Amino acid sequence: MAAATDALGRADELAGLAAAVSGCTRCPLAAGRTQVVFGSGDPAADLMFVGEAPGFHEDQQGVPFVGQAGKLLERLLAGIGLERREVYIANVIKCRPPGNRDPQPEEIEACEGYLFRQVELIQPRVVATLGNFATKLLSGKPTGITRVHGQEQATTVGGRSVLLYPLYHPAAALYTPAMLKVLESDFARLPELLGRETAPAAPPEPLLRVVTEAPVQLGLF
Ligand code: URA
Repeated sequence: MAAATDALGRADELAGLAAAVSGCTRCPLAAGRTQVVFGSGDPAADLMFVGEAPGFHEDQQGVPFVGQAGKLLERLLAGIGLERREVYIANVIKCRPPGNRDPQPEEIEACEGYLFRQVELIQPRVVATLGNFATKLLSGKPTGITRVHGQEQATTVGGRSVLLYPLYHPAAALYTPAMLKVLESDFARLPELLGRETAPAAPPEPLLRVVTEAPVQLGLF
C-alpha cells in the first residue's frame, strides 16, 4: 500500500515536472520548437528507453518516437511481449534541434537535469540507451555504442541504481540490415535483464572531468 502511494506521488511529481518543463527556456532550442517533448509511457515503468532528441513528428505531436524509428521501436517491443504504454520513453534533450542536427553539448547540459529527475521519479530497473548520445551521457564514458551495445552495466542515474543497457539507435538500424539484426538480438535480452536482481550500483563518477582530449564526437554510432 505504502509503495503504491509512493508510486502515485512520484507519478504526480513527474506530471508536475512535465508541466514545468513545457515552458522551458534554458537553451536556444526553445525558440524553434513547436512544443517540448517531455516523455511518455508508464510513470512507474521497470524499463525506460532514452533516445537522442525529438525529430519533426515528435515536435509536432509532443510524443517521443512517433516516426519511423518509433515504429521500429514498437515492433521490437512487441517482439518481447511489451507495448509502449508499459515502458517509459524519453530523450536526452526535450526540444527538436533545427534540421535534426546533433544536440550540442550546451543543450545537453541545459536539459540533462530533467532526464536525471525523470529517472529518479520513474525508478526503472533497466535504462536502455538508444545510440551514442544517451549512452555517453548516462554511462559518463566516451566509449561509443559500437563497442558497448548489448553490454549491461550497473550504474547510478539520478541517484538511482539502474542497469544501463546500451542499444543501437533504431533510426540507425532502419537503414542498416546488419545493425538491425544486432539490435534485435540485443533487444531479446531485455526480459532476462528485467528479471534480474538490481545489482549494487558502482560509485558515481567524479563530477569534475579533466578534459585533456579533443571533445568527444557524439553521433548515432
Ligand atoms: N529519435 C530520437 O532519438 N528520439 C525521438 O523521439 C525520435 C527519434
